[in-house]
Amino acid sequence: MAKKVALVTGSARGIGQGIARELAGEYQLIISATRDEVEIPEDLKDNAVYIRCNIAESAERERIFKEIDARFGRLDLLVNNAGVAPLVREDILQATEESFDRVLGINLKGTYFMCQHGANYMLQCKEKGLEDYNPRIVNISSMSSFTSSTARGEYCISKAGISMVTKLFADRLAEYDIPVFEVQPGIIDTDITAGVMDKYQKLIDGGLTPTKRFGYPADIGRAVAALASGAFDFCTGQVIHADGGFHLRRL
Ligand code: NAI
Repeated sequence: MAKKVALVTGSARGIGQGIARELAGEYQLIISATRDEVEIPEDLKDNAVYIRCNIAESAERERIFKEIDARFGRLDLLVNNAGVAPLVREDILQATEESFDRVLGINLKGTYFMCQHGANYMLQCKEKGLEDYNPRIVNISSMSSFTSSTARGEYCISKAGISMVTKLFADRLAEYDIPVFEVQPGIIDTDITAGVMDKYQKLIDGGLTPTKRFGYPADIGRAVAALASGAFDFCTGQVIHADGGFHLRRL
């Protein structure tokens, strides 16, 4: 039986790499990021290839699906993980259009069109009648999808937008039995949060999250692997809060 193929965008490090690690046993992995070349970690070498894709660039989005088709002839799982924070945290009373366009262009537009390409390619694969083919899409948004942070409004807007992308594609693809899910990570220990870890540590110590620790890429990877397993296929459109209980309202 042909090995299943998974593409994880932005998986050169951080959460994406954590997701890749949790999927490695089940899938032929496509690690992807913006650089021309990336060193694949030793433990993933047997199961992974690297293909560059800047998700903000239309031509690169198109190219990666052509390359996947040429090399593997199928895509069983698309994990839209790539994303950026604003280069500078600036209050929404001052934040620039330039930063808005950059963050929205990568996080929201990039994810939306990766879903579009992925969905169309999966439909094409379905038409070919591939054996044991049950494709799925997982979008990584954020607790910022529903949480206001006035010093990075453009990030929050981009992640709230991804939540609608999930709903739209879950709705559109349900008739083809292609489930679309979303994982909303909380505070995860990666490069993106490195500069604000002290601040977050104090907030966690002060009770911000019921589970008193940072999340780790493996926490998100395990949630994605569970969604990818097929156990949740009837729950298309479902959102998993991978945030140590941050989303709970408390009194
Ligand atoms: P990271 O900065 O460690 O990794 C981001 C990855 O995305 C890198 O591999 C980078 O090369 C890639 N990337 C950046 N721009 C890209 C582009 N235009 N095209 C393709 N790849 C691109 O960040 P982290 O923390 O691993 O974040 C991964 C995802 O999780 C992001 O979407 C982020 O918004 C989200 N997230 C992270 C949280 C955290 O606390 N670390 C919390 C909630 C969500």
